[in-house]
Amino acid sequence: MGLSLLLPLLLLLLLTTLQAGNSARCDPKMDFRMDQPEHLSAPKGGTIHINFTFYYCGALAKDPRVSIALRPDHFHGEVIYNSTRHFVHEDYKDRIILNLPEGQKSGFLQILNLREEDENMYFCRVQLKTQRFGLQSWQSILGTKLTIYLAPKTTTKGPTSTVTITTGLSVLEGNRTSVSLPLSVEAVVKVALTIAVLKTAILGLTLYLRWKTSKGLQTTARTVAR
Ligand SMILES: *[C@@H]1O[C@H](CO)[C@@H](O)[C@H](O)[C@H]1NC(C)=O
Ligand SMILES: *[C@@H]1O[C@H](CO)[C@@H](O)[C@H](O)[C@H]1NC(C)=O
Ligand SMILES: *[C@@H]1O[C@H](CO)[C@@H](O)[C@H](O)[C@H]1NC(C)=O
Repeated sequence: MGLSLLLPLLLLLLLTTLQAGNSARCDPKMDFRMDQPEHLSAPKGGTIHINFTFYYCGALAKDPRVSIALRPDHFHGEVIYNSTRHFVHEDYKDRIILNLPEGQKSGFLQILNLREEDENMYFCRVQLKTQRFGLQSWQSILGTKLTIYLAPKTTTKGPTSTVTITTGLSVLEGNRTSVSLPLSVEAVVKVALTIAVLKTAILGLTLYLRWKTSKGLQTTARTVAR
């Protein structure tokens, strides 16, 4: 009985949702999006994933023939990658890979073996076939700002005692990184030493005072006894 009541209710809910979806107007000239992260950073020689998601309010053609392209510099920058043409700019030869599973609207463009010159803006572009308006293409307006940093060195030449400590540090700006930790270690040791000295002094003082007090008491006791 519970189920026979629930089913029509669910159906009603589904119909209302569908109707709401239909009545929400889809303006194919306005209602599309290409989302990608605002900012990414990776070490030189590393790999970056520019994740993207595109959205279109209307229905897509049965075979939407999705094409993804990538532009650097600015919105109208020269195309460096086009999935349909299997095109990769020679500066990025063998270094750009698209991952967009069939039928999905989210994927990522990978740039491998990053160089310092790759530090740039990147704009993802999509083209696809829609059911009602044929081929449509659009692109992210803000793009992704990619920052390349120098990877922290894992082996540093220098005094052996500091090297092991330095490698554990994450590099802040590439230069002037290794100084702070050995200094702070020294500071910690200094503080510890100071505390130890203070403790000894206090203990010494306490013992001395106790000894003096008990001696005083003894003297008083002797005086009284006499
Ligand atoms: C990009 O997407 C992948 C899954 O496809 C995810 O594992 C990864 O964390 C995402 N990266 C960022 C920066 O959002
Ligand atoms: C990729 O190249 C094809 C052929 O020139 C073009 O029609 C398509 O618009 C390009 N893709 C994108 C996303 O710009
Ligand atoms: C660190 O290097 C940058 C250039 O890469 C330089 O402008 C800056 O002055 C350097 N900073 C220090 C503290 O040496």
